Amino acid sequence: MASSSSLLRLTVLAVAIAAAAAAALAGGADDGGNQREFDYFKLTVQWPGTFCRRTRHCCSSNACCRGSNAPAEFTIHGLWPDYNDGTWPACCSRSGFDEKEISTLVDTLEKYWPSLSCGSPSTCHGGKGSFWAHEWEKHGTCSSPVVRDEYNYFLTALNVYFKYNVTGVLNDAGYVPSNTEKYPLGGIVSAIQNAFHVTPEIACSNGALQEVRLCFYKDFQPRECKVESILLQDMSLLKSSCPKYVSLPAYVSPGQAKSEWIASTVPQIEAL
Ligand SMILES: *[C@@H]1O[C@H](CO)[C@@H](O)[C@H](O)[C@H]1NC(C)=O
Repeated sequence: MASSSSLLRLTVLAVAIAAAAAAALAGGADDGGNQREFDYFKLTVQWPGTFCRRTRHCCSSNACCRGSNAPAEFTIHGLWPDYNDGTWPACCSRSGFDEKEISTLVDTLEKYWPSLSCGSPSTCHGGKGSFWAHEWEKHGTCSSPVVRDEYNYFLTALNVYFKYNVTGVLNDAGYVPSNTEKYPLGGIVSAIQNAFHVTPEIACSNGALQEVRLCFYKDFQPRECKVESILLQDMSLLKSSCPKYVSLPAYVSPGQAKSEWIASTVPQIEAL
C-alpha cells in the first residue's frame, strides 16, 4: 500500500514537472500576442510508415486508414517558429482556427499534411481540434510578421515542403522504404546535408525514423537548427532518439499490422 501510494505521488510529481517544463519551453503559452518575434522556422516532416504501424483503430481523419491510398512519402507535421535559445513561442493569437479560410487548400493538405492518428490534439483556448487547428493555433499564429494569416501559413508550409523534398533525397540515395533493411543514420544525415547544405534533426521511435526537421531563416533559406549554446546542447540530448542504424518502415495497413507492433505501441511524440 505504502509503496503504491508513494509511486502514485512520484508519478504525479513527474507529470507536474513535465507540465511545468512544457509551459516554460512554450514561453508562457497564454500570453497571446505578447511574445517576442521568433528567430527561425523549423519544418518537421513525418514518416507515415512509422506512425501507421502503430495504428490501433481507424477513423476517417486518420490517413493511415486509407489503405492503398495512405501516404507513401514524408508528410508535413508542422512549420514551427522557434527561438535560437531552444524555446519557442506558442498560441500567439486569440482567434481560433477557421477551416473555411483554407478551403481551397484542403485537398492538397489532405494529401501532404494529413493527420496520422485519430486523436484530437489540444488547441490554444482550452479545447481540442483537428491536427491543422492545433498546428495553426499553437505554432502558425506565432509566425507573424513573416506569415500573416492562416491561409498563408498553410500555403507557405506546403511550398517549403515541396521545395525540400526529403523523400526524394532519401530515395535518390538508396534509402527506400523497407521492412527488413536498416540504414546508417549517418548516411541519411549526409544525404540531406548534400542536398540542402544543412544538417537535419532526426527523430526516431523504436529504431524507426519518425521525423526529419529542417530549419530556415525567415526568408526560407536553409540554416542550421542548432546555434552554439549550452542550453540547446542540453536540449538536443533530450531530443534525439535514433540508434546508429534505423529502419524506414514500408506502409502496412492497420488491419495487417503485426500484433507485436500493436503490443509495443509507444506514445506518439506530442505535437509540440
Ligand atoms: C518528392 O520526390 C518523390 C521522388 O522523387 C516524388 O515521387 C514525389 O512526388 C515528390 N514529392 C513532392 C511533395 O513533391
